Formats: sequence, C-alpha cells, structure tokens
Amino acid sequence: QHIYREGMLGRRPAVPTDFAELERRARRASSRIAWAYVAGGAGEGRTMRRNRAAFDRWAIVPRMAAGAVERDLSVDLLGTRHASPVLLAPVGAGALMGRDSDLSIARAAAATGTGYVFSNQGCNTMEDCAAAMGDTPRWVQLYWSKDEGLVDSLIQRAESIGAGALVVTLDTTVLGWRPQDLNLGFLPFTRGVGIAQYTSDPRFAAIVAERVARPATKQDVRITLSAVRTLLAMTRNHPGRFWRNLRSPLPRASVETFLDVYSNPGLSWQHLATLRERTRLPVVLKGILHPDDARRAFDLGADAIVVSNHGGRQVDNAIASLDALVAIRDAIGPEPTVLLDSGIRTGADVFVALALGADAVLLGRPHLYGLALAGQRGVEDVIRNVVAELDLTMALSGARDVPAVTRDLVSAAG
Ligand code: FNR
Repeated sequence: QHIYREGMLGRRPAVPTDFAELERRARRASSRIAWAYVAGGAGEGRTMRRNRAAFDRWAIVPRMAAGAVERDLSVDLLGTRHASPVLLAPVGAGALMGRDSDLSIARAAAATGTGYVFSNQGCNTMEDCAAAMGDTPRWVQLYWSKDEGLVDSLIQRAESIGAGALVVTLDTTVLGWRPQDLNLGFLPFTRGVGIAQYTSDPRFAAIVAERVARPATKQDVRITLSAVRTLLAMTRNHPGRFWRNLRSPLPRASVETFLDVYSNPGLSWQHLATLRERTRLPVVLKGILHPDDARRAFDLGADAIVVSNHGGRQVDNAIASLDALVAIRDAIGPEPTVLLDSGIRTGADVFVALALGADAVLLGRPHLYGLALAGQRGVEDVIRNVVAELDLTMALSGARDVPAVTRDLVSAAG
C-alpha cells in the first residue's frame, strides 16, 4: 500500500519496480567484469533461460470474493518465524556490486525483517553481518573445505553468531564452465574478493601461516597484479575506495591458500553424514535437483533442502529449479521443508513456487542489482517490491496466508 501510495503521489522509487528495468539499470552501473560475473551463467546460458521459462509454463488461477482483506505472509522455517517466505540467497563477491556489500545487505534484511543467508564467499565477516541484524533470522552457508578443521571452525562461528541454520551448498565442489568470466580472464576469488570469512578465521590463519614460510613465487606476483585490476573494477561506483583498499595489504598468501582449500571436489554423502554430530544447528542442503538426492538428504537427517541450480551458474542445460521442485515434492510428499531458488524475479513467481510446494524462496541476483543501484536502500526496495507484489497476488487470488497458496491456484499453462 505504501509503495502504491508513493507512486500515486508521483514519487519515484529508488529502484525500478519491474525486474527488466532493474536489470538494465544495474548493468549500466556496473563494470564489464563485475556484470559478467554476477549476471552471467554457465555455458550457453540455457539453464538460466530455462529457470525463467519454467515460470511461464504455469499460470495463476485466482479465486474471487474470498475475502482475503488482511494477509499474513509470515512463515515458520526450522522453528523460527520469518516475516515472509522471501529470503536473501547467499551471494559471494558482492563487493563487485556495491560498497560494504554484505553489510549493506544485512542492514537491508534487518530493516525489512527478511532472513539472510550469509555467503561463505562473503565480503564482510559473518560476525559483522550478524551484529548489523539484531534479531532478524540469519543462516550461514558453507562450502565444504578440503580441511576438516576449517569446516569445524566455520560451523563453530556460525553457532556463535546465532545462525538459525547451516546451509551446505553441494553444487559447487568445482566452479562451472562460465564463458563470460573465462573470456575476460576474471574470477573474483583469484583476486582476493569474497574471502572475508576465511581471512577472519583462526584455523585458516594457521593454514596460511604454515605456507608463508616458503619464498614468493611468480604466481604471487601475478595474483598481486590482478588484485589491482580487481580493485579498479570493484571501485568503479565509488572511486575514493580504490586508494583505501589499495593501502590495505593484499592477502597474497591467503588468496592462494583459499583457492586450494575452500572446496572439496571429493565431497560425498559420507562427509555430510558427519554433520549431525558436528553441529546442533538445523542443516539445510542447497543445490538439490534430483528426487533421489532429496530423499537421501532427508534420510541422512537434513532439516531442509534448497532446490536450486545455483541461478544457472553451474551446469548448462540443467533442469529448471521449478521443474525439479515439482518432481521432488511428488517424490517426498508435503512434509519435509523445501526452499527454492534460481529464477525468482517477481512476487507472482514467489506465488507460483509456493503453490507448487516451496515453503519459501531465495532471491539471488535481484537484491544484488538493488545494491548496485542504491546500496542498502536499493536492497530494501527490491525486497519490498517482491513482497508487495506477492501480497497483492495473494489478495487478488483469495489467499489469506501462505498455507492457503495451494496447488489448485496454479495450472499448467502449456
Ligand atoms: C551466487 N550463489 C551462491 N550460492 C552459494 O551457495 N554460495 C555463494 O557464495 C554463492 N555466490 C553467488 C554469487 C553470485 C554473484 C550469484 C548470482 C549467485 C547462488 C545463489 O545463492 C542462488 O542460488 C542463485 O543466485 C539464485 O538464482 P537467481 O535468483 O540469481 O536467479
């Protein structure tokens, strides 16, 4: 209502209220390499397109005169009440899109009461982000490290910042084939962007210390030079930051060590089976697409899964996450907690995902685009726009609350 009223009074919002314009403007505000990394997808981009096309294949079938005058958008997830079924996905290297990226996102999440999943490849520490969020729900995402001590250290930190869940991302044991980044010769992490959770970790510091004992190599020089290029790209929207960032010592040895240990390509269900003894936090497995993997996750004791293809960034020509959701719900029934991401752009998309069995959804790129355009305020506006459209769609479809958004309110559109 607030957004409507402001619009009627002729006030223009900080960020466009439609995704196409949001994307166009964010692109204009970003450097080429930042845009390639954030907006790009795997291979020919088929998974990314399919994520969107899947939403077009479902149509909402509104019910009339159902009296949904007051709506309650809150949902219970893993024992915590969330203001709405829209959460912010973990996104690494956010500094490419805006100043104090993860902190700004954390503040926007707190201002709107929106759950936020901190990325393992964040640009601010989970401790700083948590401190900016008050009581707003925060979850912590983990890539399984080759170093089991580091896995434990990150879990312990997640517990101590009051995380509501540990989200283990399974689909990125190695990075996907991403031509846009490859063509530009750019990956943020090779330049030290997005490694704040590591450089702040005591176990990581110990691993780095063991390695710096050896002399500098040509590789170290290459990393330093490319780090300067990255700083230039990152600070395009706020040039003053370039000098400030440049003065801080570039974590050469840290970058190398990070690249070596951040993920374990040999990750197996045996590793995941150890999680139940390693943490008291609810465990969420992210990146599930196959019904058998969904069953296995819950057999293993996972508390929830995120059906996701990583926003189409990992496997080209993969199944749309929305299609995977339908198959997975059919396989596991209505009870287990299932979240969905990849391709959510509007409130109407959220409605369709809920109707097809998602308990909640995560927004990836949209909130980063808000960040690129207007910092914390931009992220807040993107969240408010999506939630407001969901609220209106529920009102116009006769759904009073999230459980009332049921399968019979959508039909295959062909
Ligand atoms: C991601 N994603 C991601 N996922 C994760 O588990 N850890 C991470 O560090 C990142 N980093 C990341 C960076 C960027 C720039 C993007 C765009 C995405 C994937 C993310 O959590 C989510 O699955 C997708 O972004 C959802 O798809 P949409 O909303 O971007 O289409």
